[in-house]
Formats: sequence, C-alpha cells, structure tokens
Amino acid sequence: MRILKKVVKALGLLAVALVAIASFLLWWTQPKRPVSGVFVRQAGPGIFKFTDIPKGRVLSADDVDAYARRLIVEMTLEQKVLQMSGDSSLWDLVKLVTIEKGKYNDVPITAGADTRLAIPPIAFSDGPRGVVLNHSTAFPVAMARGATWDRGLQRRVGDAVAKEIRAQGGNLWGGVCVNLLRHPSWGRAQETLGEDPYLLGELALPEVEAVQAHNVMACAKHFALNSIEETRNKVDARVDERTLREVYLPHFRRLAEADVAAFMSAYNRVNGDYCGESRHLLREILKDEWRYRGFVMSDFFAGVYDGKKGALAGLDLEMPWTMAYGKTLVAAVEKGEVPLAVVDEAVLRILRRKIEYATRPDPMAYPPALVGAAEHRALAREIAEKGTVLLKNAGGLLPLDEGSLRSVAVVGRLADAPNLGDYGSSRVYPPHTVTIVEGLREALGAARVVHEPGTDLAGARAAAAAADAVVVVAGFDQSDEGEYIPQKPNKDEWGGDRKDLALKAADRELILAVAEANPRTIVVLIGGAAITVEEWREKAAAILMAFYPGEQGGTALARLLLGRANPSGRLPFTVPKDSTQLPPFDNTSLSVEYGYYHGYTLVEKKGGQPRYPFGYGIGYTTFAYARPALDAKEVKADGRLRASVDVTNTGPRAGEEVVQLYVGFPGSKVDRPVKLLRGFEKVALAPGETKRVTIEMPAKDLAYYDAAQKAWVVERVAYTALMGRSSRSADLSSLPFRVKD
Ligand code: BGC
Repeated sequence: MRILKKVVKALGLLAVALVAIASFLLWWTQPKRPVSGVFVRQAGPGIFKFTDIPKGRVLSADDVDAYARRLIVEMTLEQKVLQMSGDSSLWDLVKLVTIEKGKYNDVPITAGADTRLAIPPIAFSDGPRGVVLNHSTAFPVAMARGATWDRGLQRRVGDAVAKEIRAQGGNLWGGVCVNLLRHPSWGRAQETLGEDPYLLGELALPEVEAVQAHNVMACAKHFALNSIEETRNKVDARVDERTLREVYLPHFRRLAEADVAAFMSAYNRVNGDYCGESRHLLREILKDEWRYRGFVMSDFFAGVYDGKKGALAGLDLEMPWTMAYGKTLVAAVEKGEVPLAVVDEAVLRILRRKIEYATRPDPMAYPPALVGAAEHRALAREIAEKGTVLLKNAGGLLPLDEGSLRSVAVVGRLADAPNLGDYGSSRVYPPHTVTIVEGLREALGAARVVHEPGTDLAGARAAAAAADAVVVVAGFDQSDEGEYIPQKPNKDEWGGDRKDLALKAADRELILAVAEANPRTIVVLIGGAAITVEEWREKAAAILMAFYPGEQGGTALARLLLGRANPSGRLPFTVPKDSTQLPPFDNTSLSVEYGYYHGYTLVEKKGGQPRYPFGYGIGYTTFAYARPALDAKEVKADGRLRASVDVTNTGPRAGEEVVQLYVGFPGSKVDRPVKLLRGFEKVALAPGETKRVTIEMPAKDLAYYDAAQKAWVVERVAYTALMGRSSRSADLSSLPFRVKD
C-alpha cells in the first residue's frame, strides 16, 4: 500500500514537472514580447499611451484608421502577430495562484502591450456579475437583471461597472453574455438575460452603451449557441440557417450594430466548426453582412485550435496567451498560407479599438473610492428588489405586517450563506455579502428572527409552528450549477449543468414539512433559471423567485417581505410544469440539434400551458388595462406601428408594471411561432394613477429569414398585435393589422 502511494505521488510530481516543462517550451519558442508576465498589477491605458496622439483629442473614425494604418506600416510581422494574442503565459497563471496567492483575474489580463511601439494593452476584467477584479460590487446575477425588464437599471449597472473597471486599471469588460437561454438546465444560465432574443438585445444594449461611455470596451459573448456547459469545449450545435438568424443571433446583431467594441467567440462548434474558427459566423455574418468594425477575441485557454483556420475565419485575438497563433501564424504567413492582409486586418481592428478608447475624452476621473461605492451597493439592492419575481401570494400573505409580527422562522441552509452565484470566471468577491437572515435581523431586530438550517426536519417543523410566519430559502449554489471547471480539486466548486429542474429532494421535503406546521409559509427560490414547483406549490402560501440576488440580496429580500419595497420582476423565461414542455437537454452527446422552438414559443406551439408564463409576475398592488389601440390598421413594410394602452394602478401601493407587446402571425404562409415579443415598457404608477403607455414597433421586426433567398422577408399579410401584462393569452388584448407595400 505504501509503495502504491509512493508511486502515485511520484507520478503526480512527474506530471507537474511535465506541465512546467511544456509551458516553458511553449513560452520559449514563441516570439518574445516586449512586456511579458502580465497578469499585470498595473495595467490599462495609464501605463503607456499612443505617443503622438494626445488623450482628449477627439478623432474621427477616419483619423483613427489612418493612425492605425501608419503604425501597421512600421510594424514587423512578429510585432503584428504579437498584437493578436494575450500577453500572459500558463506560468503567469500558475505563479499568480500559487506564489502570489492571488485569485483569477484579480488584476486585468492584458493583450498586446508593446513598449517599443508605445501601444497600450487591452486590459480585461470579466463579468457579468460585476467586476471580477479585486473586491468589487457584486450585483445580482444577469438573469435577475433580465427579470427587471428595466432598460434604465441596465444602463445604471453598465455605468457602475465601467467606473469600477476604470478605477482598477482595466479597459475592457467581458461581461455582456447574451447567449439565449435555450434550457434552464444550462449551468451558466445565471450569466445571461433570458430566453427571448428581443428581450436579450433590448436589455444588453443600454448596458453596453453605458460601459462604453466611460471608455471601457464592452465584449459581447459567447458568439454563438453556447448553452450547454459540460460539453462546451466539444459539442457541435447543429442549427439550420433560419433558426440561427431568427433565434440565436438577433441580439448579437443588435450589439454589433450599436458598435460594441469586441465579440468573444464561443468554445463550442456550430455546424461542425469551432466558433473561433467559423468563417460563416465570424467572417460571413458578423464582419461582412453586419459590417462589424470591432475585433473578435477567442474564449480563454482553448477557444481556437487551428491558428491558420482561426485567422482565415476572422478570429482577431487569441486569449489569454499564445497557443494557436504566435510562431504558427508567423510561419503560415511566411509560407503564403495565410495572406498578410488577413493579419493586417486583424491588427487594424485591434488597434482601432485601442486608439478609440485610449484617446476619447473621459467624462470624469476614476478614483479608487469608486470600487464598491455606497451608490453601487444601493444599486445592487435596488436591482435585487426590482428583479425578484413574486409568483404566488395566496390570501395576500405578503407583505408581512411588521407591526403585528412577533417572530419569523427562516429555514434552509442557503438562508444564512453568502450565495452570489457560481465559482467560475464570473465570480466577484465583494468585501461583504448580506445574507437573508442578516437582512431580516437588521430589519426586524435579532430577537424576532430564528434561523433553522433545515437539516433536521423535526427542528424545522417546531421552529415553523412557533413562528408567526416562515420563510424557506431553497434552491441552488455553486455546487449545483455554474461554469464547469472539472480540474478544480474541491468537488463543491464544480458547477456544471443543473441535474434537475425541480428542487432537491431535501428542499422539497423541508417545504412540505414546514408548510404543514405553519400555513403562513413563504418560499424564496434561489437559482439561475426556471425551477419547477409542482410537488409543493399548493402548500406554500407565497413563492418568490430571487435568483442569486447579489451582495445586498439579504437587505432587498427583507424589504420585499416586509413591504418596504414592492416586487416588480417579471419572468425572463418560462417556468414549465415539467421538463417535457421544454426541448431535450443533452449534455453528454457531442452533437446536439438546436431546433426552431424553445421556451414560450415551444410551449405555445404544442398548445400547452406552462406553470408560470414568460413575462409573468405579480406584486403588492393591482393594475387595470383599458382597451389598447393601434395608430393604424395598416402599416407599410418600411413603416412603424404604434400600440397604446392606458394602465391604472388600482391597488393600495405604488408599483411598477411591465407592459408587453407581442405579435401573432395569423396570415403567414410559413411556419411561425404563435407569437413573439416585440416591445415592452416598464412604468411606475402611484396608487390611483393612470399612464398611457405607447410602444412603437418597426414593421421590419415582423420579418422571417428565408434561407433559400438568404434574405429577411416581411410578408404583406394579416397580423395581430397583442398587448398586456404577460405572455399568457388571458393577459393580452388582441388587435388586428396588416402590412402592405
Ligand atoms: C469563460 C468566459 C470568460 C473567460 C475569461 C472563460 O472560461 O467561458 O466567459 O470571459 O473565461 O475569464
């Protein structure tokens, strides 16, 4: 036995030595960087500037390109290729984590720092939960922000994130994840904004604009069809052209057209090609058809395998270190296998962004005190309040009456644990996280709040029976869902795809036991996407979907439960009754068919009823809708249609309502969804107040993609506009209209 142990240990040491030698050789044989070893402590446009362009001089797009081209003329092939991959090496990462005891992305990850040519680096900080650098503000996860349906809040998140990045030496945020939620089992569901392409585009856009207004480049990721985690490095998403264009790409297009600075290619394959090597995605669609001017970076560590193929396909930057580019690319250009023009174009795209972002005037200064500023923490709380979705509130149990409430039992292991989301690349480390128990104790005084972890059912029952109300916190954490990092030694940090749409058996038993002991039971659900509720929902008086509510989540939840705030979140996805209502989710096959229908479009096409529909959510007040009206019965194919409705707050409290506009296609000659979201507006209404909400829709948004003609087609037929408070037909009024030439 002892010998066996020694052999295993020796083999382990040998493996470590081989990795070290291999990483050294990899580094040694590559072109040498003027700046190396940079998971830098100080980065950003501050370390060096473009020499002869004073910062603050506004350059036209032509000036920027002319300056970049002048630089390119002076550069050697090696210098050009060095712009095309990150400055780090595997050794830097090992050193950071082992010797310097830093955490991943503690400091910006740089690319293309060149002191000889005075070219500043790209200095990357990941997201989307906030800024991964150091100890920044941890906002509610992106899916909670999707549930706000609030463009203004997204703009404010972008603003806060950009300030925290600039204050810490970064100039690029990898936080705009707009992968469509095809299925709630996806481990990284928490990082995106919902299941609907229109909603994704509308909510990501203001965030991107706000980030870029502070001269921080935003990066839209992962292009494209990245929505299965455990096979993400290998799986081939098979998709037909129409589905690709209508379902999986419109939100990316929205951001490309808004001049988002960068795109990140996905790890997976699409129709056979790795996304970082996909000519169809990168060259034909993104750069040629959408006329995108920015650069494309690979996803990190294994995002491009074949350097020649990647460069020819239009992958401009390999991150975070050289594997497929470097000497391989230099040799390929020298042999004439990759035209020099391809390298020149990639460098132009990268330099263009660097010059634009390093020279534009800043709107303000960025002192270190901006990181975790009180204003940002208040924003994190506001988002948690406005992104929490109240799904059920039988008998108006919520909000709890603070005056008469003597004691609350808070039950569940997640109730007093900081639970901000997964432990993957989006992990943010705020200085402090308010748990739900802490939040309630702060609001009600410690004496009135009892916490029971729920591991002992008898104890939980007794605590519930003795309390005026019970809050069960149930759901998931980083061990159940998240970015999949198989090499992590601690099994609790594995993440991966969620195994089941239902709560774990222990949580389900806990809810049933506690609800039997006290019917005034409120269930707070924690997770990245839909959680099914069939087995226990009738027993719980109230249900809230709180996602991973961020560092101020406990304060926000306490305020919601006590009525100091009114929940106004709406589901950015469908909650099915069970998984048979959704597309199959297969995270073992290496080839998966991505069909045209998913989420609400699939449930509706099959004629079923979900448990909670897309767009659904209630609150502590009620809203009445008058009969909506269209401004015309006919609209030209290049025209716009306006739908208006008067909405009145008929309840006792101020609240926010999300007015939604869908379109149905009764006259279509092709297969189309029952309806599609095409507009929404969030309005705040005082009790008794009425507001007219008008939503404008360009008729071109009615188009379908005709793969044979390779064109978008707006049919000149009859349609219906459907306006109301959720995607459920009972919540919508229908108005017919036609499109004409
Ligand atoms: C993730 C990306 C992330 C990158 C850099 C990858 O593992 O898939 O979302 O931006 O790491 O941290």
